[in-house]
Amino acid sequence: MSLGRGPFAYGDRVQLTGPKGRLSTVTLREGGELHSHHGVLRHADIVGQPDGSVLVNSHGSEYLALRPLLRDFVMSMPRGAAIVYPKDAAQILAQADVFPGCVVVEAGVGSGALSLWLLRAIGPTGRLVSFERRGEFADVARANVETFLGESPASWQIVEGDLAEELPRAVEQASVDRVVLDMLAPWECIDVAADALVPGGVLVCYVATATQLSRVAEYLRATGAFTDPESSETMVRGWHVEGLAVRPDHRMVAHTGFLISARRLAPGAVPPDVRRRALKKPSYADEDVEVWTPGAVGDREITDKNLRKRVREAQRAADAKLREAGGSESDQSPA
Ligand SMILES: C[S@@+](CC[C@H](N)C(=O)[O-])C[C@H]1O[C@@H](n2cnc3c(N)ncnc32)[C@H](O)[C@@H]1O
Repeated sequence: MSLGRGPFAYGDRVQLTGPKGRLSTVTLREGGELHSHHGVLRHADIVGQPDGSVLVNSHGSEYLALRPLLRDFVMSMPRGAAIVYPKDAAQILAQADVFPGCVVVEAGVGSGALSLWLLRAIGPTGRLVSFERRGEFADVARANVETFLGESPASWQIVEGDLAEELPRAVEQASVDRVVLDMLAPWECIDVAADALVPGGVLVCYVATATQLSRVAEYLRATGAFTDPESSETMVRGWHVEGLAVRPDHRMVAHTGFLISARRLAPGAVPPDVRRRALKKPSYADEDVEVWTPGAVGDREITDKNLRKRVREAQRAADAKLREAGGSESDQSPA
């Protein structure tokens, strides 16, 4: 397996764009072949070629071969839960100011998309502790990270359980640089996040609806432990640029979620703008939370059967990657 650059080698994942723009992703194996009704492309013909090469199959059809970028991988990997899209992941890294060597807590881990971005940003000297209360989702995330990185990095730990209960057991108070929450009810975890964060540390929450956004903002203000929160959404609109036909794309991913971020104050610090706004307690009753269940906000929850299928899919891809990394060979089939 190569390190993501240089000529293609066995063990590399390769994204192939074939006739009519059809995309297939394969992991290169000795004896492996990509079969389609347009003919057969042998993995051996790809190995040794530079990234970005065009290859011809047995019927003369052309395939463009590229190593998938992280954004390509996360959009096509098996999902248990909805993922953080690349446009939002980039903003999370920027707003949380995640740096090499940073200590980050993330919950829930879901399918592991954000975990991959965070692991890349903290580098080998950082530490990412990811919490997930559903074991099957943690399995999907582990498998996805192993598939992309070829291993489970030493900088990463998954804790299975509810963040509100597990965080105080897993990390020292005031020892975490950044906390990122992507879950239905982040307000339930803000107190433990405040305890875990270093003074000046950053909390970023990613929420799908405006009602969740409002509740997080008011909860953050009510703690008196954070700077006044900043909220945003990120819209990325592609453009069609060809000759004089230069215009926005007709389609776009219009809504994914909102980001809300705030910084941990030093114990006892009360900045003037917080004093102005502080509320005694969140102005929401427990019943209100029912309104924000996934069904009520329009998110469909994955069925158990479907989730088990995704776990198997993710595990198969990770096993194949780990076998390659260990140098052993297995049966070949198109991806
Ligand atoms: C939308 S998914 C996270 C997706 C993930 N960020 C990604 O990019 O793949 C939300 C996850 O949070 C988990 N979750 C919700 N509340 C939690 C809590 N209090 N502690 C731990 N995990 C939680 C859910 O089980 C679910 O897997």
